Amino acid sequence: MNDPDKKFKRYTVTSALPYANGPIHIGHLAGVYIPADIYVRYLRSRGLDVVFIGGSDEHGVPITIKARELGVGPQEIVDKYHSMIKKSFEEFGISFDIYSRTSNQIHHETASEFFKKLYDQGEFIKKTSLQYYDEETRHFLSDRYITGTCPRCGYEKAYGDQCESCGTSLSPAELINPKSALSGNVPVQKETKHWYLPLDRYQDWLRKWIVDGHKDDWKPNVYGQCKSWLDHGLQPRAVTRDLDWGVAVPLPEAEGKVLYVWFDAPIGYISATREWAAEHDKNWETYWKDPETKLVHFIGKDNIVFHCIMFPAMMKQEGSYILPENVPAFEFMTLENDKISTSMNWAVWLHEYLEDFQDKQDVLRYVLTANAPEAKDSDFTWKDFQARNNNELLAILGNFVNRTLVLTQKYFDGKVPERKAEWDSQRELDVIEEIATFPNRIGKSLDNLRFREALTEMMNLARLGNKYLTDSEPWKLIKTNEERVQTILNISLHICANLAILSEPFLPFTAEKLTGMLNLPKMHWDDAGNTELLKPGHQLNKPSYLFEKIDDEVIQAQVQKLQDTKKQNKADESGINPVKEQVNFDDFTKIDIRVGTIVEAEKVPKTKKLLKLKIDTGVDQRTVVSGIAEHYTPEDIIGQKACFVVNLAPIKLRGIESQGMILMAEDAEGKLCFVQPSEAFENGSTVK
Ligand code: MF3
Ligand code: ZN
Repeated sequence: MNDPDKKFKRYTVTSALPYANGPIHIGHLAGVYIPADIYVRYLRSRGLDVVFIGGSDEHGVPITIKARELGVGPQEIVDKYHSMIKKSFEEFGISFDIYSRTSNQIHHETASEFFKKLYDQGEFIKKTSLQYYDEETRHFLSDRYITGTCPRCGYEKAYGDQCESCGTSLSPAELINPKSALSGNVPVQKETKHWYLPLDRYQDWLRKWIVDGHKDDWKPNVYGQCKSWLDHGLQPRAVTRDLDWGVAVPLPEAEGKVLYVWFDAPIGYISATREWAAEHDKNWETYWKDPETKLVHFIGKDNIVFHCIMFPAMMKQEGSYILPENVPAFEFMTLENDKISTSMNWAVWLHEYLEDFQDKQDVLRYVLTANAPEAKDSDFTWKDFQARNNNELLAILGNFVNRTLVLTQKYFDGKVPERKAEWDSQRELDVIEEIATFPNRIGKSLDNLRFREALTEMMNLARLGNKYLTDSEPWKLIKTNEERVQTILNISLHICANLAILSEPFLPFTAEKLTGMLNLPKMHWDDAGNTELLKPGHQLNKPSYLFEKIDDEVIQAQVQKLQDTKKQNKADESGINPVKEQVNFDDFTKIDIRVGTIVEAEKVPKTKKLLKLKIDTGVDQRTVVSGIAEHYTPEDIIGQKACFVVNLAPIKLRGIESQGMILMAEDAEGKLCFVQPSEAFENGSTVK
C-alpha cells in the first residue's frame, strides 16, 4: 500500500486539534493521539524527517457555550483547558514537535491571510439569507447554538451542524422544531450576509482525487463516507459566522463576523508548523507545499468531511498546498458499553487515571492500542484492562525480560555471555532467523496504519523469547552445560535489545527503562533485526520489573467509581437524591422518634424561614424551632400530628433553644409535607 521510503522525503503528521472546552479522556487517546504518536515515533526511529503537529482548537461554539455555562469569558475557558490538555499529552508521551493553540497571534494571521487569498482570487460566493435568530439573547443561531429534531433519525437533541446520534452533518434549516440552545426560545428568522465556499464546483476534481486516487489506500470507513458525500452532491458551505469569538473576517464589510471554526481550525496545523519552524530554523513551507512531503491527518470519524473535503478544497483552491496522502480516521471507543460522554461524566479522564495508576502510562497506551477502534467501534472495560496488563504485558513481555536479565545476573554477574561454538543448533538458527523478520513485519503493519496488528507482532517477539527460554531451560542446563547457557542467554538478551527498539513506538516509557537496564544507548529501527547489538562482556544494569500485577480490588474500585457516576446521573435526571452511605441497625435504633402534636406555633421575628413550635411529645411539652415558615403559616399547623426526633442534642437558633426536630418529606422541587401517623395515634408512641 504505502511505500514510505521511495516517494517521500519528509512527513507532516497532524492530529485533530481538540476543543479546549474540557479535559482529555481515553476515547481521544485511543482514536487519534496514540495511533498518531506510534506512527510518528516509528518514522523517527527510521530516521525519517517528520514533524508532528498538535494544538488546541480554541474557537467555535463549543467554547463559547462552555464559557456561558460557567459564567466566565471564553479566554478563561481555553486557558484552563489548553494547559490541562497539553499536560495530559506530555504525561502520556504524545511526542508532538509542537503543541500550539488557535488563539495565538500567528494563527490569527495565518488564517486571516488564507481567507484573504481565497477572497482575492474570487473563490467565495457572498450570499444574504434568512437565518435563525434568538431575539432574547441577540444571537444568530448556528452550529451548536441551535438544537432540534434530526430529520434523518428523529433524535431530539441534534445540533445545527451535526446529529451526534446518527452522525449526519446538518444545517440549522434542516432541524425539525428548532430551539435556541441559549434560551430554549423558538427562534425567529433574520437576514444576514455570509461568504460560502462553493464545494459543488470542486465536485469533479474531488471525486477524481478521492474515488480514482484513494479507493485502495484510504480506510474503508473514510473512503465510504467521502463517496457518499460525493454521491449526494456537495453544497456551498458558509465559512463565516455572526459571532464575537474567533478569527475576525478580514474584510471591512464584515464587522462582527468571524471565520467558521472549521475554516480556521485546520489552518491551525499550518500556523503551528510555522511557529515550530521559526523556533527550529526550518522552512515551514517545505512541510506543506513540497510534493515530496507526505501529509497525513489523524482524526476521529466525526471529522472526516472536514479533512477529506473541505480542508483539501481550501488548500487546492489556494493553489500552493499539497493534499493529504492519507486521512486515517478511527471509529469511537465506548466505556463499559456506553457512549463516552463529557456531560454525563462517563469517561476515564487522563488526569484522573494518573492519580490512580502512577507511572502506568504504557499500560493504558497498550490497552488502547490492542483494543483500538481501528475498523469498528470498540469497548473499553476495566476487566479487559486488568487482563491485558496481567496476562499480556506482565506475563509475556515483562516476564520474558525479567527471566533473561535475572538469569544473566545470577550466572554471569550481569555481563553479556558469549555465543559459543556449539551454539548453532537448528533451534538457535531458527530463532535468530526469526528475530530478523520482526522489524519488517511490524514496520509493514505500521506503514499500512494497522496498529493493532503491529502491536500483536511486537508482542510476538516477546512470545518467541518466552518460548525459546521455556523450551531450552537454561536453569536446568546450568549444572551440566554452562556454555550452552551462555549461548541461550546471549540470544535471549538480543531479543530484549530488539524489544527495546521495536516496542518504543507503542510503549516509550517501557522501552526507555529496558534500554537503561541493558545499558545501551538509544537505538534505531535499522539497528533491530540483528543479534550483534550486545558485545560479550558488556555490563548490564540491575534489572527491575517492567510491569506489576494489577489486583482485583484496584479494578473493583474503578468499576465502583463508574457505578457511582451512573447512580448520580440517574438521580440528577429524576431530581431524586442518591441513597446515602449504609448505617447499621444499632445506629438507626439510637434515634428516638415519637408521635406528637403541635400545640403552639409562631414566627420567629426577623427571620424568613423559622417557626417556633411548642409540641406535646406525650412525654413532655417542649420547644422545637423549625425551618418551615416559607411553607406553612402557624394557623395551618396548630393541632397537627407529626413525628419528632426527641433525643437530638439541643441547639440554639436565634437565641431560642430547639429541643428536637420535626420530620418532613421533601420532594425534588423542594416541596415539603408532614410525616404523620395514618391514624390518630397517641402522643408518645414510638416510630421505628
Ligand atoms: N476541535 C475539533 C473536534 O474536536 C477538531 C478540529 S480538527 C482541525 O472535533 F482540523 F480543525 F483542527
Ligand atoms: Zn440523526
